[in-house]
Amino acid sequence: MTTRSSMLVLTMISFLLTLPPAYSQHQVFRATMTRHEPTINFTRAAHRSRERLSILATRLGAASAGSAQSPLQMDSGGGAYDMTFSMGTPPQTLSALADTGSDLIWAKCGACKRCAPRGSASYYPTKSSSFSKLPCSSALCRTLESQSLATCGGTRARGAVCSYRYSYGLSSNPHHYTQGYMGSETFTLGSDAVQGIGFGCTTMSEGGYGSGSGLVGLGRGKLSLVRQLKVGAFSYCLTSDPSTSSPLLFGAGALTGPGVQSTPLVNLKTSTFYTVNLDSISIGAAKTPGTGRHGIIFDSGTTLTFLAEPAYTLAEAGLLSQTTNLTRVPGTDGYEVCFQTSGGAVFPSMVLHFDGGDMALKTENYFGAVNDSVSCWLVQKSPSEMSIVGNIMQMDYHIRYDLDKSVLSFQPTNCDSV
Ligand SMILES: *[C@@H]1O[C@H](CO)[C@@H](O)[C@H](O)[C@H]1NC(C)=O
Ligand SMILES: *[C@@H]1O[C@H](CO)[C@@H](O)[C@H](O)[C@H]1NC(C)=O
Ligand SMILES: *[C@@H]1O[C@H](CO)[C@@H](O)[C@H](O)[C@H]1NC(C)=O
Repeated sequence: MTTRSSMLVLTMISFLLTLPPAYSQHQVFRATMTRHEPTINFTRAAHRSRERLSILATRLGAASAGSAQSPLQMDSGGGAYDMTFSMGTPPQTLSALADTGSDLIWAKCGACKRCAPRGSASYYPTKSSSFSKLPCSSALCRTLESQSLATCGGTRARGAVCSYRYSYGLSSNPHHYTQGYMGSETFTLGSDAVQGIGFGCTTMSEGGYGSGSGLVGLGRGKLSLVRQLKVGAFSYCLTSDPSTSSPLLFGAGALTGPGVQSTPLVNLKTSTFYTVNLDSISIGAAKTPGTGRHGIIFDSGTTLTFLAEPAYTLAEAGLLSQTTNLTRVPGTDGYEVCFQTSGGAVFPSMVLHFDGGDMALKTENYFGAVNDSVSCWLVQKSPSEMSIVGNIMQMDYHIRYDLDKSVLSFQPTNCDSV
């Protein structure tokens, strides 16, 4: 190397070293999402998805949210995804439900004897040099307080510890909550450490939250990991191959290349969810109406897809009118359209027409083999006004949530290449 070129390299290195850690604009934090189980049990997926729909609808205050069933452990088989990350110094590795439908990040803390799920790893604040309790005066605690989710003791003394109780549940089923105190910690995502992430140190919880150590809220609210990382956007690509994990990228740049479609996020005042407008649905040659002013929510934590009425019944009629040469069999667990597959069956195409972009689905996104001889339509009738694009329908798409621009983009992708 010549003197001049080494000077140039040195100049460049010193220039790079003086740059501030501007991760908010440039850095991508890489994490992974993993499905709990290799094959989806469609019975459990239906039960779990229905309960989740009820919870989300209740939180949105939707009318006729449907009645909750008895407390259901969503521990396995339902098709949920866990995110793997580390917290603390030195890092303690955990996995927790990756949830675009809620905001709070929480993990089981310490012994946590009265915590669900049982058997999963806990985070130990006493083993970390970077842990601190968040005081009531912190911005995150104030956000929780404004939603009546935190209490700061009777005195509300400055510096008092922020205690929270975050309910996921329904009024008819109070057994669905997590509670503890708010803390601040260094999170490690892939090879990057980020300091000062506020999270709930859970000392008591009930209900089913997957089989991991807690929950990572990826919603649009201030408490979520996305908002706390200040990255403005994130994306994931759920692989249909259950043996591999799916990439989850915080700070991901715009999708590029062929087939990228975008649609605006709407209903922004309901702060948590990612809602878009579904204008219409094509099933084979039939085109039926979308979900109207309530839109449809993209949710990582719901397995099946739900359509509110009348969109559901009209789409179902479109499907049935084009499957008369198939042998229909009665379905169970809310699956209304099921066919014999033993002789081979070809299903009509299905395209979701969003405001500004079309999602032309693969058959695997909307038909599932409930057993060796029967496949069912993985779209169910919503008991409320809420409609959800579940995670099976999102598989093999790279989906990017841009919070800054309020846009959702998607692109058919081999997720192993992301
Ligand atoms: C699926 O889950 C249901 C309900 O938990 C259970 O009864 C059934 O045996 C499961 N099916 C398979 C194939 O594991
Ligand atoms: C497959 O599932 C269908 C629908 O639930 C059911 O009617 C049928 O008995 C099942 N067949 C077998 C072989 O399990
Ligand atoms: C049934 O009809 C559709 C079109 O209407 C066709 O594509 C398909 O090959 C037919 N047969 C079977 C077994 O699906």
